[in-house]
Amino acid sequence: MIFAKLFFLHILLDDTNDVGATLEEYGKLDAAIQRWEESAVSLVPGYLKKFYNKLLICFKEFDDELRLNGIYSIDHIKKEFQQLSSCYLQEAEWLHQNHKARFEDRLHLGAMSIGATELCVYVMVCMGDEMPEGALEWVLAYPDVVMACAKIGRLMNDLAASSKPRNNRDVANCVECYASEHKVTEEVAFAAIDSMIDDEWKTTNQARFKHGRELLPAVQRVINFTLSRPVYYGDRKDAFTFSSHLEDIIKSLFVNPIPT
Ligand SMILES: *[C@@H]1O[C@H](CO)[C@@H](O)[C@H](O)[C@H]1NC(C)=O
Repeated sequence: MIFAKLFFLHILLDDTNDVGATLEEYGKLDAAIQRWEESAVSLVPGYLKKFYNKLLICFKEFDDELRLNGIYSIDHIKKEFQQLSSCYLQEAEWLHQNHKARFEDRLHLGAMSIGATELCVYVMVCMGDEMPEGALEWVLAYPDVVMACAKIGRLMNDLAASSKPRNNRDVANCVECYASEHKVTEEVAFAAIDSMIDDEWKTTNQARFKHGRELLPAVQRVINFTLSRPVYYGDRKDAFTFSSHLEDIIKSLFVNPIPT
């Protein structure tokens, strides 16, 4: 349940930045998120105050629930959420300046802003007693397999975004940055990015062998999350935004009988 709420808070924050707030308004919201205290609500523009208060209340509830179950405090997740907010602000600034970043920089920021690092930390915390020793420190250091999860998410998302008409409220995505930096067509950028995604899957598979047995359940947990990416962004489609793309999957899981 916490995972679902956290996910939803992400989406609200993301949509606020993408479609709701001006750069100045988002900057104020971010400043309050960095302060993270009730009195900081005075910084926040009127129509966003409710969101800010709710955010604080939700995190308080998550914290109580996690502590009640003897697990961990929510502090790590809070830090991740604050970082996510800074990334959104940076993207909003790039959009405002009409800045087309170098591909590497765009990918780095985009991987950090896709929410994957935060959710990887979160799925680890939620393992509770089953979390292997050292797994929290391991995931907090963003090992390769976590970054692969984030990059796969970002690159697949941007490939899907490039397949639909451009919205001028979107900052230049990885495909556009690659094409512009290397002076190539989008088709060439697609192929280059497909091959980068393949490399990240190799990193993901290697992670199963790279770490000791003790950490394996933690590694597997991250990989399980990575595996959900193609469900949403496979075939260059953004089923995360346009859920009708999930129709076939849902039917095959819940409606159609398994062929005999
Ligand atoms: C990962 O997913 C597999 C198959 O869906 C499941 O059996 C396994 O328990 C999951 N592992 C962890 C650590 O969540």
